[in-house]
Amino acid sequence: IKRVAVLTSGGDAPGMNAAIRAVVRTATSQGIEVIGVRRGFSGLHRGDFITLGPRDVANTLQRGGTILLSARSHTWRTPEGRARGARHLRAHDVDALIVIGGDGSFHGAHFLQKEHGIPVIGLPGTIDNDLYGTDHTIGYFTAVETALDAVDKLRDTGASHERIFVIEVMGRHAGHIALDVAVAGGAEEVFIPEDAKEVAGVLDIVKASVKKGKMGSIIIVAEGYPGGATGVAKAIEDGTGMETRVSILGHIQRGGSPVSSDRILASRLGEAAVYALMEGRSDVMVGRQNHGTSFTPLADTWEKRKDVSRDLYRCAKTLSI
Ligand code: F6P
Repeated sequence: IKRVAVLTSGGDAPGMNAAIRAVVRTATSQGIEVIGVRRGFSGLHRGDFITLGPRDVANTLQRGGTILLSARSHTWRTPEGRARGARHLRAHDVDALIVIGGDGSFHGAHFLQKEHGIPVIGLPGTIDNDLYGTDHTIGYFTAVETALDAVDKLRDTGASHERIFVIEVMGRHAGHIALDVAVAGGAEEVFIPEDAKEVAGVLDIVKASVKKGKMGSIIIVAEGYPGGATGVAKAIEDGTGMETRVSILGHIQRGGSPVSSDRILASRLGEAAVYALMEGRSDVMVGRQNHGTSFTPLADTWEKRKDVSRDLYRCAKTLSI
């Protein structure tokens, strides 16, 4: 391998820059050149390429967002779009592509390899932590910290007014962020898409916590739970007559300087991605499982489902009495 390309795609995640930096510096150390593709797959089918050397990625480790920019490309979903991208890669003598993103991005990479024989490696970059084949995804730890900081602040005002705060966190169809934030933030209740429990159950919990003398309640809702925070808040108001406030944290959870765990994960995975290509691997996601590097076929990352931690779910319930 003489030249690799790297891109970031889909929702940006804190730590993507650390991963790009690790790819560039590992590749350079092995005598491999790096091309950065701007704006994800959208830039790939347009040939929006830049060269990246070790100094180009200086001072990026601690920065949120992605210096390569990101996009969700519709054109890439068509065989013609992918063929255009493959032509650009060949014209620039690119031997392999590293894609940092979530499952949508991995679909794009998988089909590029399948249709055009270009080796691809995926790196898990999403705040949602919803990819099978890795314990954590790049950006997840930071998103949890950001959401938790907001929850702590909302608890201050909620307790002062003895109000119920229903807080919605991101996660797409998964409840990983919600569950971590619920346990770390001492929430009274958490609603995740992985458990289709009825909102009705929360009414008793809320009434009981008032009786117990709690100064207000924090209820965490994953955005993928049917009805979201707004639906849960309405059910509480209708069922108890108690005043609630809804706070949807939204995209703030995607920003900010990556915490150390994300920087370290991204650095390890970026390094491992280059070595994986040198060993002849392709069509796999490089992840970390049980403290070691793991390789998972890209298709498994979206066909198999990563469950939330059931122990932690129980823990959230046990500790909210
Ligand atoms: O996948 C990351 C994520 O932030 C999800 O948590 C959320 O559902 C989605 O992206 C939001 O996407 P967009 O930035 O396109 O609104």
